[in-house]
Amino acid sequence: MATLETTVDGLKFKNPFVIGSGPPGTNVKVIKRAFKEGWGGVIAKTVSLDPSKVVNVGPRYAKLYAADQKEVIGWENIELISDRKFETWLDEFKEAKDEYPEGMLIASVMEEYRKDAWCEIIERCQDAGVDAFELNFSCPHGLPERKMGAAMGQDPAILEEVCGWVMDVAKIPVWAKMTPNVTHIEEPTAAALKSGCQGVSAINTIRSVMGVNLETLRPEPTVEGYTTPGGYSSKAVKPIALRMVMEIAQLIKKEFPGRSLSGLGGIETGADAAQFILLGSNTVQVCTGVMKFGYGMAKDLCEGLLEFMESKKFETLDDFRGLSLPYFTTHAELVRMQTERKAEQAAAKERAAMVKNDAEWDGDDFVQQSDALSR
Ligand SMILES: Cc1cc2nc3c(=O)[nH]c(=O)nc-3n(C[C@H](O)[C@H](O)[C@H](O)COP(=O)(O)O)c2cc1C
Repeated sequence: MATLETTVDGLKFKNPFVIGSGPPGTNVKVIKRAFKEGWGGVIAKTVSLDPSKVVNVGPRYAKLYAADQKEVIGWENIELISDRKFETWLDEFKEAKDEYPEGMLIASVMEEYRKDAWCEIIERCQDAGVDAFELNFSCPHGLPERKMGAAMGQDPAILEEVCGWVMDVAKIPVWAKMTPNVTHIEEPTAAALKSGCQGVSAINTIRSVMGVNLETLRPEPTVEGYTTPGGYSSKAVKPIALRMVMEIAQLIKKEFPGRSLSGLGGIETGADAAQFILLGSNTVQVCTGVMKFGYGMAKDLCEGLLEFMESKKFETLDDFRGLSLPYFTTHAELVRMQTERKAEQAAAKERAAMVKNDAEWDGDDFVQQSDALSR
């Protein structure tokens, strides 16, 4: 009987499905709802020590629809981190852990480039009883203007320094969440892992502009007639997320064996999750999917993943984690392999055309058979 249970960095998840940081983990009510619906873990909305600097606008989401105008395939947001008081969060972390001790509760944190601020936020959240941390180095809008979020995640030297501050005080596992808005995601990943983080999460949203309204000629989402580039998520980003997850998993395999990877970006089904695990993910997160389908999707995700495992006779997630990684290579190697196979096929065809006894001579192929015997 296949099981979805998995232990990652010492944390016991009843299944690998974790709520990704964002609206689906934005207060204790929804966190408890997620655990009630069977999610293995919840990464709460990103918190900071002083939320008075966080001012959100509306509208702050814009959706991209498929040709049928019904299915949402892409989602842009210009939402900031949590605007709720840090002290309220600490109480809510305790409340969620008291009520759902088995649910893995992960605090997502972000701070300015100050050692004291990072140490304080880590120490106070871990005292509140969270199971692990995710460091948000990846929000692509709003916060980078204050040198936070993706501004840190795009600078491996700063990232390594900040992760070092965190690792000095953290007594529980720490995952660094990577931004896809870089050329080589391996560079910030290596910086985080070098500083001792137990794992990484990837990806956060991709910096984007959803579109321009052809009536008003204003870009969307429009706030007072203007917009600002936001973060793109949902189904449309899955191929990009898979590519980056693959690159990170290859790096972990080669240089940081034993470190963990939490994959996300467009996951909506158990089959999507299976692909992230085949490319090396230990856990998988869903954020926008929950905003589209609700918390109840946990049941379908678990069923879908188990169905895949049973069809392939995998009993545990470890049985197939990273199994598809060896099948990536360079384009030059693809050309070499294909040329070799074509040459082998031509040789085999030639061998097949050679008559082995006189009974094989055939009127239709007579000229080719004669030709094959003359080489
Ligand atoms: C509305 C919205 C708000 C988000 N807020 C946060 C956040 O506070 N912290 C964070 O690390 N990621 C945040 N994210 C990013 C998601 O956690 C996730 O990395 C990204 O959306 C890709 O996954 P998905 O396609 O499953 O949503 C947010 C995403 C959305 C759509």
